[in-house]
Amino acid sequence: MNKFSRIGFILAAAGSAVGLGNIWKFPYITGEFGGGAFVIVYLLAILFIGLSVFIAESIIGQHGESDVSTSFVRISKSKNPKWKFAGFVIFAGLIILSFYSVVLGWILNYVFTSFQGLPTEASVAGATFGALTKDISTQIFYHTIVAGTVIFIVLKGIKDGIERINLILMPLLALILFGLFLYAVSLDSFSQAMSFMFVPDWSKINGSAMLAALGQAFFTLSLGVGTIITYSASLPKDTNFVKTSMYVAFVDTLVALIAGIIIFTFLFEAGAPSAAGPGLVFISLPVVFSDWGILGQVIAISFFVALVFAGITSAVSMIEPSLLFFIERYNMTRQKATILCGSIFYFAGIIALLSMSDEFGPALTFAGKNTFDWMDFITSSIMMPLAAILTCVFIGFYVDKDLLRDKFTKHTSVLVFDAWYILVKYIVPFAITILFLNKLGFIS
Ligand code: PHE
Repeated sequence: MNKFSRIGFILAAAGSAVGLGNIWKFPYITGEFGGGAFVIVYLLAILFIGLSVFIAESIIGQHGESDVSTSFVRISKSKNPKWKFAGFVIFAGLIILSFYSVVLGWILNYVFTSFQGLPTEASVAGATFGALTKDISTQIFYHTIVAGTVIFIVLKGIKDGIERINLILMPLLALILFGLFLYAVSLDSFSQAMSFMFVPDWSKINGSAMLAALGQAFFTLSLGVGTIITYSASLPKDTNFVKTSMYVAFVDTLVALIAGIIIFTFLFEAGAPSAAGPGLVFISLPVVFSDWGILGQVIAISFFVALVFAGITSAVSMIEPSLLFFIERYNMTRQKATILCGSIFYFAGIIALLSMSDEFGPALTFAGKNTFDWMDFITSSIMMPLAAILTCVFIGFYVDKDLLRDKFTKHTSVLVFDAWYILVKYIVPFAITILFLNKLGFIS
């Protein structure tokens, strides 16, 4: 198999992890849950839970050296072929990609419309955003560009496609974020944003804040969809997977925090509310930027371009698990697998966007949720938590412990191994089960 270089892997995995989850979702849920205390809970969730599962997926991939299904079977104690069913997770990646591509399309649209001008009032910005999510032809146009770009990149394979695009886009993303961060530092509201983000007010933390932090930790680290397993299958065999996992989690967390600081500084500077929900970057921010004239336009364009770059490197990582699955298990060529999986997510994305329109919405709405929301719900509330629980139970009970210890102690101490093992075997599955039951409405 065509392997990553070590740095190529770190960049690609960080590229997968850093996405709309960091720059769009993390700031808006931090805003909704009132800042500092939520950030601390989130950091703990990343450190103790997200990172443990990340390491678990990385071992399965690096050791299994194949697609998700084959890797599970290969590293299980019994080599029981039934473990191939763990490969169901790859479909979660395809489903997420279907609507992620539509959302990326909105952002691409914002890049272009920001050239023409920005809305000066929240009501106008809200109406513009609302109209976009119902405009079929515009959404199909941008979804097609995004999908085409993703397909073009993955057709070229791991080294020439995925590694190369990350090598280009990740430094550019870092540059834009750094520029925006410097500008934020120069503004008066910077210190207010810092205290909002880092001074905890524990009265704001409740069960749903903790569960949101845990769910976000999984989503942002790209866990539960086979991405990290699949990328790790191309991680050179002797690479220290504990270190690479830590680097990726660190970069991902840093970007989320920086994005939060930038966005809250901008919002506070304009006196805009911090708890605006999902519309935060689509509705509140453009209005803030419009106050700053031409500079605001430049900042708006840079910001949305950064989101596009972050999103594209995540999008390619959502389709790769399916491609490797069809290549390895059905002997397909990469071209055939790409045409197959590319068509699936492209058309599923069209159904998702049609389900928001007035014309087709009613026919594509089931039990009060449109197809777009169903895709989000089925993946983030059902498939991803199930996959994470399965991964932990698998590692804890169905993989030879000595083998795992051997792999670990090549790179770290027994103590680190023991701590990780206890987390993965007992604590993480317990925490996710609670998250899972809560999301399904069994507990609140
Ligand atoms: N981690 C990505 C983000 O934060 C999303 C993602 C989920 C990517 C699952 C790959 C797999 O946007």
